[in-house]
Amino acid sequence: MKKAIITGITGQDGAYLSEFLLKKGYAVFGLIRRSSSFNTGRINHIYTDPHDPNGRLKLIFGDLTDGSNLAKVFHEIKPDEVYNLGAQSHVRVSFDQPVYTADVDALGTLRILEALRSVKTPVRFYQASSSEMFGKVLQTPQTEKTPFYPRSPYGCAKVYAFWQTVNYRESYGMFNCNGILFNHESPRRGETFVTRKITRGATRIKLGLQQKLFLGNLDARRDWGFAGDFVEAMWLMMQQDVADDYVIATGESHSVRDLLDETFEILDLDWKKYVEIDPRYYRPAEVDTLLGDSTKARKVLNWQPKVNFKELVRMMVESDLRLAQRDKTKLRHQESDEEDVKMIMAQTAAGSLGHKK
Ligand code: NAP
Ligand code: GDD
Repeated sequence: MKKAIITGITGQDGAYLSEFLLKKGYAVFGLIRRSSSFNTGRINHIYTDPHDPNGRLKLIFGDLTDGSNLAKVFHEIKPDEVYNLGAQSHVRVSFDQPVYTADVDALGTLRILEALRSVKTPVRFYQASSSEMFGKVLQTPQTEKTPFYPRSPYGCAKVYAFWQTVNYRESYGMFNCNGILFNHESPRRGETFVTRKITRGATRIKLGLQQKLFLGNLDARRDWGFAGDFVEAMWLMMQQDVADDYVIATGESHSVRDLLDETFEILDLDWKKYVEIDPRYYRPAEVDTLLGDSTKARKVLNWQPKVNFKELVRMMVESDLRLAQRDKTKLRHQESDEEDVKMIMAQTAAGSLGHKK
């Protein structure tokens, strides 16, 4: 049985990749950070009892800032494949925490590469590189040959990780791949990324749970795909005879405004009545437009996306509508529970439920 280690298993892509690899028959080992509250919500449905000898998903504590722990994990598990999906992945936040972002996203990748170099069994390595590296784009559409021009601490950190991944491949003959993935979304997307923020906000507005939606730059354009399609490309890269780097994208670009049109139209609402601009969501430097050309992946990996923009938005709206409905029901129950508590307390104070002497 093949063994894969996934860093960032609790994130959006980690959850989809785990499901994908388990279906392929892999034993999956996920690195998780210690957290003061549960952080395994996206993988609970596939998590198996750690003491079950047949359980194929195991979780191990670790952190990309702790190199000695990474080396220990690799030596103990001797994986066939390592997928480095762990990152401080929010571009806006990277402006507030540039040093931390570089430590996790740039040096974290270097720590993995150094640890893997000392593992004696052959290991294949996947690095979650990003279209954010193209930043202020020098060419459209962007291919594997387009020069990088990062526009954020996150983008700079990912460029560093990209080149170290290439460098270790060329210097030490390691099987290292960079997947240069354009934005990919899903119902499991973090709530502060713009797609999910919009589908979540709009569905809550529809059910009366929220009045307004505050956003930043509505003119930004992105090449948005479905995360479930994109994790298949990660795996395909790792199955080739030769390690290489690939752009993974849909080849279609839409603005945040298009996203608002599409989302609110499904819900029969006019977004202009609900959306307000909050400059806090502007970035010190913006990536205005991204559009990927994944011809190489389509030819060499025989990969192509299955879900288009409209289908993606509909999938996210339906899922968020279900969650909003659940929240509304919970709220109603809470209100009636609150009423019950008040009534009981009032009766107690009035003596009808008072303690018997
Ligand atoms: P995500 O949902 O934000 O997940 C990030 C994961 O990294 C989480 O599991 C998080 O753990 C973990 N993590 C954060 N800091 C860590 C640390 N110090 N040590 C170990 N793990 C750490 O991101 P995603 O959307 O799944 O993206 C996966 C990867 O692809 C990231 O590297 C991202 O930068 C890259 N990428 C994403 C896209 C996209 O559009 N989604 C496009 C290109 C590249 P917690 O749950 O504990 O926070
Ligand atoms: N998050 C957010 N919140 N973005 C907003 C908002 C808002 O309220 N309003 C407008 N935007 C704009 C941002 O300025 C940006 O131009 C665009 O929407 C997309 O923002 P995000 O969804 O945060 O994604 P991102 O493109 O910055 O980064 C994502 O994609 C990268 C790949 O290109 C992340 O997943 C990165 O980890 C990933 O590498």
